[in-house]
Amino acid sequence: MPPARPDAPDRLLVAGNWKMNGSRALAAALAQAALDAARAAPEVEVALFPPAVLLPLVSDAVGAPRGPVAVGGQQCHPEAKGAHTMGIAAAMLAEAGCRYVLDGHSEVRREYGYDDARVAAAAEAARAAGLRPIVCVGETRAERDAGQARAVLERQVDAVFGSRSAPLADADVAYEPVWAIGTGVTPTPEEAERAHGWIRARLDAAGAPRSRILYGGSVAPANIGGFLSRPGIDGVLVGGASLEAASFTALVVAARAAAAARRRP
Ligand code: 13P
Repeated sequence: MPPARPDAPDRLLVAGNWKMNGSRALAAALAQAALDAARAAPEVEVALFPPAVLLPLVSDAVGAPRGPVAVGGQQCHPEAKGAHTMGIAAAMLAEAGCRYVLDGHSEVRREYGYDDARVAAAAEAARAAGLRPIVCVGETRAERDAGQARAVLERQVDAVFGSRSAPLADADVAYEPVWAIGTGVTPTPEEAERAHGWIRARLDAAGAPRSRILYGGSVAPANIGGFLSRPGIDGVLVGGASLEAASFTALVVAARAAAAARRRP
């Protein structure tokens, strides 16, 4: 196994992005399962990203922002307030118990027109409200096939972390190849780690060596161990498999085993 990174984070992160799924009943059940899983695996950080209207319920259930499960929003608006119908300000998420906010998920980029500049502005807004953004990047299948994956990832990372007077500390990245989201098809752990290496180099250049890089895209109990066996992968961002208590719990258990394996000399 390659040597540990000096700036490796203390804990692996298992994050569940519920997207536009759930109900009050499901949210309560998943929050309880996450709480139980997190208590049994203190070496792993567990975070939930429910739809905004379910945030208060989930935050209360897990005792956010201080409890063992972190909560996050799925996107914040770049502006702090104003005439932006449907918008959710970062400060509103913070007040709802959030510690994190996803920023620039490929579905948000595609469905709501978030381009690199808007994703960067939203990251600034998140930081101003005391949230830790998780900036989502990833190439499409066409971009990958055209040999452009590295250039796309570097552009997306630089737009948020680069060309800044002050480094964007306290922000993370999720590498989510668009072609792997919801498809059951994934890169190999080695391929994912190579992409993480490209991203890591840009983060280092931007003065953000302590940012985590998560992998996302069809993560499941059967494949999480492979991804988390790679030292360049600091956690996972999970969609479908986070919507069932049993599979989400299995992911946290697997992350705990991966964390233990990393600590072994
Ligand atoms: P799936 O795990 O359903 O592929 O979704 C990944 C994702 O987009 C998480 O943000």
